Amino acid sequence: MKNKIQQKFSASAKNYDRFSSLHREIADKLLARVIKEPVPSAFLDVGCGTGYFTALLKGNFPQSNIVGLDFAQGMIDAARARHDGIDWVLADGNNLPFAKESFDIVVSNLAYQWAGYLIRVFNEARRVLVPEGTFVGTLFGYNTCQELFQSLDEAKPGAFKFSRLPDEAQVREALDLSGFKSFNVNSENIKVEFKDMYELIAWFKSIGANNLSREGYLGPEAISRAADIYREKFAFLNGVGATFEVIWFYAKK
Ligand SMILES: C[S@@+](CC[C@H](N)C(=O)[O-])C[C@H]1O[C@@H](n2cnc3c(N)ncnc32)[C@H](O)[C@@H]1O
Repeated sequence: MKNKIQQKFSASAKNYDRFSSLHREIADKLLARVIKEPVPSAFLDVGCGTGYFTALLKGNFPQSNIVGLDFAQGMIDAARARHDGIDWVLADGNNLPFAKESFDIVVSNLAYQWAGYLIRVFNEARRVLVPEGTFVGTLFGYNTCQELFQSLDEAKPGAFKFSRLPDEAQVREALDLSGFKSFNVNSENIKVEFKDMYELIAWFKSIGANNLSREGYLGPEAISRAADIYREKFAFLNGVGATFEVIWFYAKK
């Protein structure tokens, strides 16, 4: 599963920036939170993708050492080609290749939902933070694309099962169990307009994020029925709406 996720993100790296305006919008908001922190000597950005957020950090904290880390080779290559002055590291958030207490702040924008076992990746973030260090970021949560899941299920009940993304309570529990001293977790739902269900699925593919594990087979007829259900139930503006739940976390070691 992990290799499949890496490959899909790697393959999407060339197109990623054209289709990731939602990610950039959240990154800009995340920056507004991060710049309230005292200037750190070292930052780590986990799941940096093509480096949009990492480069914002560099622009705002030119004196800090900044490391962008991603496990997809294509993403790291794209980031390195686009942005100077940042250390780009190909590695997995589950096994960070750094000594303990290497960073003052660990950040992450919309990556941990793919990282598998949250306690493990949060534990790694905690290990590489200095005492009192800050862990701050976002991930997509459980309600993300609920309209899609509901439409697919209504088209052929029980035929198709997705493993859903973590919810707010699971994020809170993972921060607690991975040993963070204090933390805050909250979430917001953002509704995005797509032409139809097919455009939503194509968008997921274009950013490499079509990798939720799933079981079952729907077939073209049920897919077309799901698209009709989606259009009828979830009309939004001139097309259909898709919810993206963004879970925000802020924790102290
Ligand atoms: C949706 S993109 C977000 C990229 C970037 N942070 C942004 O805001 O545009 C998620 C990124 O997380 C990376 N990723 C997912 N799981 C990871 C893991 N376990 N270790 C390192 N990177 C991971 C993917 O390769 C992908 O580049």
